[in-house]
Amino acid sequence: MPAPCMSVCWSLQLVLFLLQLLGQRKVLADCGCNDANRGGHSESTSHHGAAFKYSREANEPESSKKTTQAQVYDQMVLLPSGVFSMGTNEPAIPQDGESPARRVNLDSFYMDIYEVSNKEFAKFVKATGHVTEAEKFGDSFVFEGLISEDVKSNIHQAVAAAPWWLPVKGANWRHPEGPDSNISDRMDHPVLHVSWNDASAFCKWAGKRLPTEAEWEYACRGGLENRLFPWGNKLQPKGEHLANVWQGEFPTQNTGEDGYVQTSPVTAFSANGYGLYNMVGNAWEWTSDWWNTHHTADETTNPKGPSSGKDKVKKGGSYMCHKSYCYRYRCAARSQNTPDSSASNLGFRCAASAV
Ligand SMILES: *[C@@H]1O[C@H](CO)[C@@H](O)[C@H](O)[C@H]1NC(C)=O
Repeated sequence: MPAPCMSVCWSLQLVLFLLQLLGQRKVLADCGCNDANRGGHSESTSHHGAAFKYSREANEPESSKKTTQAQVYDQMVLLPSGVFSMGTNEPAIPQDGESPARRVNLDSFYMDIYEVSNKEFAKFVKATGHVTEAEKFGDSFVFEGLISEDVKSNIHQAVAAAPWWLPVKGANWRHPEGPDSNISDRMDHPVLHVSWNDASAFCKWAGKRLPTEAEWEYACRGGLENRLFPWGNKLQPKGEHLANVWQGEFPTQNTGEDGYVQTSPVTAFSANGYGLYNMVGNAWEWTSDWWNTHHTADETTNPKGPSSGKDKVKKGGSYMCHKSYCYRYRCAARSQNTPDSSASNLGFRCAASAV
């Protein structure tokens, strides 16, 4: 039996070792669904409801429908310009900079209907030969509950503040839980283990860009003003699950009551008022903004966040989010990671300017 001090020292040594290992790639994990920092779409082309109403197809003049550019905007919706309340005056997690609520004016823009799927990302990799940062670094962060005993037995480090995150050698988008896992039955799930840099490269290749945080949040709210979730204020209206989050006791027990223990297809659950799927839950989504927790209440137009920073903003929470740990599957919620970080619950979708 180690003396208490010994185990503390040992933990500190582990942390130091890990920090050294990761160099600049700071390890930060303050909650259950936040990632350790390193230091889509689907086949169903829905022509119904909001997705179609706001689609490029429904809004474009006949003449431009056949252009290549039209293909770029395939699987996107055109969101109307407008003004909305970004953030909230009733922050659930004040230290994340959720407040104050501020009026934000946005030009019309396109937003991907779905999170970028493995299938879409595979097309990009095939076309460009892109090697993700997780592949270059040789590891990525994986939620402990998903790792096989075999892989786990070879890991001797953990993130002190969030022991459920383990750096797994060989974990990357093709092998989300490590070398002994694959995505063959998950091609329609969100691509994971992509860094901000990887996500930006994908969007650029697709003729798109990452959404700003303001655009992302506007899209999340689906035209509703000041609600918690993309559909309203009740997490489960009439008992129905409308997003892929954690049910059970985090991090030990995941009942998968919503139908998914891990990620779900990017087409799962219902679309919000703008026809967008999985804006909260499933996978965190990168935005283009640098992270900052201090905002003025001044009204702004097309804000793009701070001009520089260390971390990038991610939004929406993930399948790992539980109210007890990480009540971040709300439109106003936010978190951050360094641009080279990747993890088993972090993906993205792209946006595009309308003009
Ligand atoms: C992928 O994983 C599944 C489930 O673990 C397994 O049955 C299958 O053989 C794997 N496929 C490849 C190509 O490794």
